[in-house]
Amino acid sequence: MPTTTDIEQSITRLRAEINHHNHQYYVLDDPQIPDAEYDRLMQTLQALEQKAPELITLDSPTQRVGARPLAGFDEVPHTVAMLSLDNAFSEEEMSAFDRRVCERLEVDEVIYCAEPKLDGLAVSLRYEDGVLVRAATRGDGRVGEDITQNVRTIGSIPLHLMGDDYPRVLEVRGEVYMAKAGFEALNIRQREKGEKPFVNPRNAAAGSLRQLDPKITATRPLAIFCYGVGAVEGGELPASHSETLQRLRDWGLRISPETQKVNGVAGCLEYYRQIGERRAALPYEIDGVVFKVDAVKQQQALGFVSRAPRWAIAHKFPAQEEMTRLIDIDIQVGRTGALTPVARLEPVFVGGVTVTNATLHNEDEVRRKDVRIGDTVIVRRAGDVIPEVVSVVLAHRPDDAHSFVMPDSCPVCGSEVRRVEGEAVSRCSGGLYCSAQRKEAIKHFASRRAMDIEGLGDKLVDQLVDKQWVQSVADLYDRERLSHQRLAGMERMGDKSADNLIAAIDKSKQTTLARFLFALGIREVGEATAQALANYFGSLPAIIKAYKEALLQVPDVGPVVADNLCNFFHERHNRDVILSLQAHGVQWPDVEAAIDRPQPLVGKTFVLTGTMETMTRDEAKTQLQALGAKVSGSVSKKTAYVVVGADPGSKRDKAEKLGVTLLDETAFKSLLIEVAGER
Ligand code: IVH
Repeated sequence: MPTTTDIEQSITRLRAEINHHNHQYYVLDDPQIPDAEYDRLMQTLQALEQKAPELITLDSPTQRVGARPLAGFDEVPHTVAMLSLDNAFSEEEMSAFDRRVCERLEVDEVIYCAEPKLDGLAVSLRYEDGVLVRAATRGDGRVGEDITQNVRTIGSIPLHLMGDDYPRVLEVRGEVYMAKAGFEALNIRQREKGEKPFVNPRNAAAGSLRQLDPKITATRPLAIFCYGVGAVEGGELPASHSETLQRLRDWGLRISPETQKVNGVAGCLEYYRQIGERRAALPYEIDGVVFKVDAVKQQQALGFVSRAPRWAIAHKFPAQEEMTRLIDIDIQVGRTGALTPVARLEPVFVGGVTVTNATLHNEDEVRRKDVRIGDTVIVRRAGDVIPEVVSVVLAHRPDDAHSFVMPDSCPVCGSEVRRVEGEAVSRCSGGLYCSAQRKEAIKHFASRRAMDIEGLGDKLVDQLVDKQWVQSVADLYDRERLSHQRLAGMERMGDKSADNLIAAIDKSKQTTLARFLFALGIREVGEATAQALANYFGSLPAIIKAYKEALLQVPDVGPVVADNLCNFFHERHNRDVILSLQAHGVQWPDVEAAIDRPQPLVGKTFVLTGTMETMTRDEAKTQLQALGAKVSGSVSKKTAYVVVGADPGSKRDKAEKLGVTLLDETAFKSLLIEVAGER
């Protein structure tokens, strides 16, 4: 049994630690530990204080939420407190929440309103007679900071409400956030300016809103989703949360398109599962889902506990950032010879899986983040993206931590390592002499989106190259090198798997020109470029023969890609491999070349905005360009059509203002079919 003094000491230590991290997170926008670690510290402290309630003091971090406003901004008292949410981390905790709600309301099932939980910064927007008069941060929930000037720069926040039936005073609450793409672009700009990049979109949003100079805020790609109301005077709101959101939408405020009414806890769990599946594809970061009892009467009956309503809960996703120790840094040699430093980690559970390796990208990144062997690091795994080391927890750096040095010879083949001036990547100069590059080239060739050879996994390729049975991709089709007998005798193979693999290799011989081009692994020729080349030229000989000038006519092909193509086909060895593949029966139908086709959309400019469900923006662009259209990044009077997907940006609004025709995904596809049918 721990004694009271033990508990007292632990509490004092935890409070100091949490206060420190609070300051880093809330005041400096520079967190040093992942949120999950912070939550755990807080939970430990709460548990200890529950054991010894006599030790709770007013200044304990459990007794306040958030931090005091920064010195530079005026204080804004919230007439209706800005509350926080309780969290559920499992289905059990969700069920327990639902049970409490039903029991208190004495009903069997409740209707909830489900919304994604955006990872940004809560703000309050006060409208008087429809005019935005004040915007404030949440602060400690009772007093926030006046950020009116900054908020006025955010395009998605109306300065005046639409319609005329809004209450005289309407305080709207929502989350200001930065979309993933805007965040990436901002960090590129920060690096170019020699400034420190932001750790994540939440920090970038918070840092941008807390700028004392609104001109800087104006350059930041911020947006808002509104999710509730605070003070309301001189007007009535509907009897349910979902209808209230609808009204907010009518008044011109931005509401999440993912908002949905669901029935009971089963509906909540299903919504959580579905959003979870789409999470990585959403254009912004979410860290969970919020469920709110929909009927306002029921909300009132349930009421509040100190800092959170009893009628709402945040069902959180597994943490995407965790802390662990970096044991060593290895080098991985990729298909194009790029040397990637990879962190070997003490196993850590993050984003729903156990992670032992994380990429460090390149030498500059290691230096910029000042990552040293032996450091405690923050690891991030978002969606299916490769885990990466985000930053170092400097406070935990051991005395014997040592720096990483990029080797000057390839750790696999010993060839010289070169780094082109102005490029971040160091490369092994061994080309296909390097077995690591050969292995990666073969894996890429066989991959699903290339030649799609099922059953030819990474481990198998490694062995085939190590045994020197397969030296180039053409050897895969050579039945002497890759005989049934050899295959069946390999590790974890047998007669059956050998048969299946040979059948899969044979099947891959029938392919398409685009797949084949992509499979060759020419630098910077991805799927979309390969498709564009195939569409444009129609046959492989036409591409091989094309001069740089001709290649530059292809949509999406710039000078670098054109050079890569010329260099690739100029190389004798590469042409030999292609001939050998064809001699083994690899073939594809030629396609009708776009250069010979009529182009019904010549002279028409399209702008694409938002996310489409059935095709990527690149695919849409390639199709449009094949039909002769021009695809531009900005809307003007000359724009013929703006294609609008989910979560469109400001381009949509601009198009509306200029009276440019808007097409949703369905209308766009009908147009493609109609126009392509003209050919
Ligand atoms: S409702 C009384 N809805 O999460 C309910 N909050 O952990 C107050 N958040 O401070 C909040 N998306 O910053 C609500 N759809 C959503 C939200 C949301 C993100 C944030 C908000 C809040 C925090 C609570």
